[in-house]
Amino acid sequence: MLVIVKNDYEEMSKEAAQIVADRLHKKPNLVLGLATGSTPLGLYKELIRMHKEEGLDFSKVTTFNLDEYVGLPPGHDQSYHYFMHENFFKHINIPDGSVNIPDGLVSDIDAFCDWYEEEIRKAGGIDLQILGIGSNGHIAFNEPGSSLGSRTRVKTLTEKTRQDNARFFKSPHEVPKYAITMGIGTIMDAKEQILLANDANKADAVKAAVEGPLTGQCPASVIQLHRKTFVIVTKDAAVKLSGSYPGTWKSSFMLEQ
Ligand code: F6R
Repeated sequence: MLVIVKNDYEEMSKEAAQIVADRLHKKPNLVLGLATGSTPLGLYKELIRMHKEEGLDFSKVTTFNLDEYVGLPPGHDQSYHYFMHENFFKHINIPDGSVNIPDGLVSDIDAFCDWYEEEIRKAGGIDLQILGIGSNGHIAFNEPGSSLGSRTRVKTLTEKTRQDNARFFKSPHEVPKYAITMGIGTIMDAKEQILLANDANKADAVKAAVEGPLTGQCPASVIQLHRKTFVIVTKDAAVKLSGSYPGTWKSSFMLEQ
């Protein structure tokens, strides 16, 4: 794990975008795992800028999103389909058929989850997974108590997560109770990961994930077992960390490991 502490959200987003662009240059048919939520918006914005101004090419990329609410149609303005289309896909040159997002309306959820896992496998596995972190330590919608070996499945959202996400909905009652989410085992299979956090309200979760014990009570702590995870956080989100960490991945030896 390489922890990188940046001054602010913009710097954090640009640092992450540099890594994505670097991997994309090395492997044009990169398989990218993507997250929604407010954290990766700056990363997507910077990747869109790189696409428009520097010709960063997504034409051969395949993407797999981490999760989707159960019951929301793709056109719902709080569905993750809608989010990804509006905030990223419609601005870059990725073919529609190369985008994969769990289907929140599917009738046989178990069969769908098996199919999603199989699609990831058939694509050759995820090369680089983008992750946010919940204030309760969740990654994707793997809430505290999730099995560390779990695969894609339906999960019940905790009240804490529903409250955190209520800011996006017209009323807190509208926040769905269930989501389809990649499992922790699915996420851990990614060859590389970038976990982002920028808000002071993530400081406890970041501390638990990076320096706390490995436990299903903080699903993000599983990154301690991963061979190549970048944790890119702002000073605000890093405020509780006790280690000393570099300011950029380019100065580190991690890439040669
Ligand atoms: C979303 C996801 C979630 C978010 C997390 C943080 O696809 O996987 O785990 O990353 O809830 O959300 P924000 O970024 O809105 O604070």
